[in-house]
Amino acid sequence: MRRVTRREFVGYGVAGATAGLTLRARGADMQRWGFIGTGGRGTYLMGQALAIPEVDVTAACDINEAHLNGALELVEKARGHVPQGYSSGPKAYRELLKRDDVDAVVIATPVPLHARMAADAMRAGKHVLSEVGGAYTLDDCWDIVDAQKETGCTYMLAENCCYYRQNLMVLDMIAQGLFGDLTYAECGYVHDCRWLYFDPSGNLTWRGELCRDARSNWYPTHAIGPVAQWLGINRGDRFESLVAVQSDERSLSKYVLDHFGADHPLAKTKFALGDSTTVLLRTARGAVVDLRFDVCSARPVVMTTYFQLQGTRAAYEDRLGERIWIEGRSPENTWEDLAKYQDEFMPALWARWGDEAAATGHGGADFFVIREFFELLRDGKPSPIDACDSATWSCITPLSAKSIDRGGEPVDLPDFTRGAWKRTSRPH
Ligand SMILES: NC(=O)c1ccc[n+]([C@@H]2O[C@H](COP(=O)([O-])OP(=O)(O)OC[C@H]3O[C@@H](n4cnc5c(N)ncnc54)[C@H](O)[C@@H]3O)[C@@H](O)[C@H]2O)c1
Repeated sequence: MRRVTRREFVGYGVAGATAGLTLRARGADMQRWGFIGTGGRGTYLMGQALAIPEVDVTAACDINEAHLNGALELVEKARGHVPQGYSSGPKAYRELLKRDDVDAVVIATPVPLHARMAADAMRAGKHVLSEVGGAYTLDDCWDIVDAQKETGCTYMLAENCCYYRQNLMVLDMIAQGLFGDLTYAECGYVHDCRWLYFDPSGNLTWRGELCRDARSNWYPTHAIGPVAQWLGINRGDRFESLVAVQSDERSLSKYVLDHFGADHPLAKTKFALGDSTTVLLRTARGAVVDLRFDVCSARPVVMTTYFQLQGTRAAYEDRLGERIWIEGRSPENTWEDLAKYQDEFMPALWARWGDEAAATGHGGADFFVIREFFELLRDGKPSPIDACDSATWSCITPLSAKSIDRGGEPVDLPDFTRGAWKRTSRPH
């Protein structure tokens, strides 16, 4: 039996794209990328991009001059020229978007800014690699979907968790039919990030402001991304509805008292984000997903995400090591180490690039995000995580807030594909 490739299985973005054709029409050997947001993540991704000989960085923008200058120096060291920098204010990125020598932009600014910047970039004819979340409000979600559709530009969400080797192995096993029908998944982003919410003087960072203001799962994509790909969301199935509940807030207030004292102005701040948020999603084909979000509770940082999947013929879970049970293959009643199946289900991307990837962040996954985006533009292939996917995953933020505010009432999710999810069927 011919094996289904990951590209065939994850499929095309429902909005389609012609990006590579545009680059090829230019007869370009080099892709010219611009960076918007050159803080920790943007600079890191820039280093990954510069490791690809066919990528140059022609412009960068950050409102923080020190961050911008660090990024410009990085390019100078790698490529021997200083790209044009923009730092004159929150809308300076629009000047970068006017440049003719920028084919694509990487957006790594605070989460609430992503969608505005991505939509503006696509409408300026630039392809987009957006850091996660991708979108923050429901209007944001529709804006990136519409901008991608109007322009035909490539949009890819930089969701690195979709590129973890074990998550891709499970995807391959689903594609080969090993799981049977999928009925349930459990996933979470559980990561004590309290140190990221305050600067050394005790002012809120942008992440801290989100914790102050957002009663929601404001960072859903690391957990829901791989699960959505497993379930074939937007490609044969779709999320129809969700309910969300949230615990009271305790841990951030405690952290403020412990670190800054009772007299600090932040001691009077009320944080909207409860310690733990649970969202339950139901799909059109009847699967259920339990999605947890907790970025405040005290705990060791060992794994920041977890995943489980249940099918009618197999089960997978990674909380106590990556373990699988497959009907007809695994011994009765016995979990097996997923690694046992590594040769048979080694993801093609990992087989090709595993050594290079191993040296990069998030278990090698960051390498693949940059590599994938580069190849999409080079080969004219549609995005595996396009604007409809980004919107579908990110709309969990505003809709979980809505459900929480209504005492856990069910809330419908929009169909960002406008019916296109039905046109592919996936074997689950
Ligand atoms: N995929 C991952 O594993 C991962 C890891 C870390 C961060 N991230 C994402 O990357 C993004 C950036 O996170 P970070 O840790 O680098 O944060 P950061 O605060 O270090 O960097 C954000 C940068 O954006 C700049 N900025 C803010 N407003 C701007 C504007 N209007 N125009 C231009 N620049 C602006 C800031 O000055 C800052 O330099 C976030 O969306 C975050 O969720 C993803």
